[in-house]
Amino acid sequence: MVLTPEQELIGKQNFSGAVEAVAGADMTRREAIKAAAAGGIGLGAAYFGYKELEADPVRVAFIGTGDEGNILLNEHPPKYMNVVAIADLRPSNRERAFRGDGNEVRMGLIKKLGADKASKIEVFNSHKELLDNAKRLGIEAVVIATPLVTHAPIAIDCLESGLHVLTEKLMARTVQSCKEMIRTAKKNNLLLAVGHQRHYSVLYHNANSLVQSGLVGDVKYIRAQWHRNNSFPNSDSWQKGIPSADKGLKDADLKAFKFDSLNHLINWRLYNSTGGGLMAELGSHQMDAASIFLGKVHPLAVSGYGGKNFYGIPGVGPKDKWDDDREIDDHIYVTFEFPGTHFEQNDRDKAIVTYSSINTNKFEPYGELVYGSRGTLFMKTEKEAMLWKEEGRGSQGGGPDQRLWVISGTTTGGGPVLEAYETTSGPKAASGGGPDWASNVSRGYTEEMEHFCYAIRNHGSDYWPGGQPRPPKEGGLRCNGVVAMADAIMALTANIAMDQHKYIEFKPEWFDFESDATPEADFGVDV
Ligand SMILES: NC(=O)c1ccc[n+]([C@@H]2O[C@H](COP(=O)([O-])OP(=O)(O)OC[C@H]3O[C@@H](n4cnc5c(N)ncnc54)[C@H](O)[C@@H]3O)[C@@H](O)[C@H]2O)c1
Repeated sequence: MVLTPEQELIGKQNFSGAVEAVAGADMTRREAIKAAAAGGIGLGAAYFGYKELEADPVRVAFIGTGDEGNILLNEHPPKYMNVVAIADLRPSNRERAFRGDGNEVRMGLIKKLGADKASKIEVFNSHKELLDNAKRLGIEAVVIATPLVTHAPIAIDCLESGLHVLTEKLMARTVQSCKEMIRTAKKNNLLLAVGHQRHYSVLYHNANSLVQSGLVGDVKYIRAQWHRNNSFPNSDSWQKGIPSADKGLKDADLKAFKFDSLNHLINWRLYNSTGGGLMAELGSHQMDAASIFLGKVHPLAVSGYGGKNFYGIPGVGPKDKWDDDREIDDHIYVTFEFPGTHFEQNDRDKAIVTYSSINTNKFEPYGELVYGSRGTLFMKTEKEAMLWKEEGRGSQGGGPDQRLWVISGTTTGGGPVLEAYETTSGPKAASGGGPDWASNVSRGYTEEMEHFCYAIRNHGSDYWPGGQPRPPKEGGLRCNGVVAMADAIMALTANIAMDQHKYIEFKPEWFDFESDATPEADFGVDV
């Protein structure tokens, strides 16, 4: 959605005002947020129901210190986490963990923790070497930010060594592997968390509370997308060169770690044996968000088209793209059917989510648009949220130029409703000067690590009442193995639908970690 700066400002003010009126009406939350503002606890703790650690920080090792591992090192909360070791196959990224990239996003451990503390952090050449030293170092948990194909084997090795695991998304390259990870965590009575950070984003949490309150009405359609333009020379951030520090790594040695070659280790996103394509890397986050907005229900069916339509097509792309040997699709378009709120009574009540990720145009920013019968919510680039009202017959106002206010449920005798100001002239703070809830509130990385450590210290051994993960409402992890497996099932089944040109209905047993049923087995995918 392309908006004028004024329309964006109005949309953000509308969102902030609505959060104040709807979420702020919850007195417990209001008190907690006040405490957070006064410095008593972090905002994440106020929102997600954990407390600052009173016990010692958890002794943690980071496995994989590349692009994402360095973001997580940057964002890690020292009050909850004591980083005692790092491990990476690539010398360049071992060095990078300490020196960073010279910016605020990846500042490196020396700047983050100070040279003295950083010098005490032990460094290993692989996760296996790290595990050989885990007992000596008293490591209790690991954060894994390695390529997709390695998530399951590394997580399982760590769980079998008695360590709690927080692994990056997508949970695993196959649903079978996701199930094995959950079963191993359960067998060893350990926590398994997955880094779909939107579960810990205050921005998304507030947005979802508006959707769940009924404020935007009945949601029948969500449009999500992540569009990039890699058609300009050297604009593809997924195609990387080999740093000189890594040139000594031998292809033969990398096979033990699931990589056929040094190129596959570095450019793992581009190959089917190591990555999961656009759906795994980008789409999984946004399908996660869409399913949260739809009440965290499982989808009914998926269909779609995916193709390598730009790279390596003679006569289409620029000459330097002809020889590109990537295997993944560069354009994907999928349609998911979800049950609507009244699906049980009327099986035509469905909500549709469309997702696209393309490589040749970025006119629109990445994000999710939630189209409700009473309002529209726009989540832009994971950092900003905007809200507008639908114009009703005979009612005043609506659309992207309209400032709003919210009539709370106590006044209407029902749920909260959106009302428009009479004038559309000039934006004015709809929240009455309250906090800005619509921009850069948090992306959730720090909070997901805080809660992981809190859970380890407070109920690490009590994670499976009745054989299931402790639910988030009772303080359980918000993105545990079962939740993350559902995201993996959506992404991996969409890949099968595109690959095999099929309309696929999701089976409930795929989502049951005790069952051996998987989409890859049912559709004969060779993994
Ligand atoms: N949550 C998010 O928003 C987000 C964003 C980007 C990436 N990610 C995820 O983070 C993960 C890593 O992505 P990246 O961009 O950092 O990749 P990367 O290639 O930059 O870094 C991965 C690192 O893992 C190391 N590694 C591989 N196998 C290892 C092993 N056995 N032991 C130790 N180190 C090993 C590699 O040498 C490499 O340095 C991926 O799963 C990706 O999907 C998540």
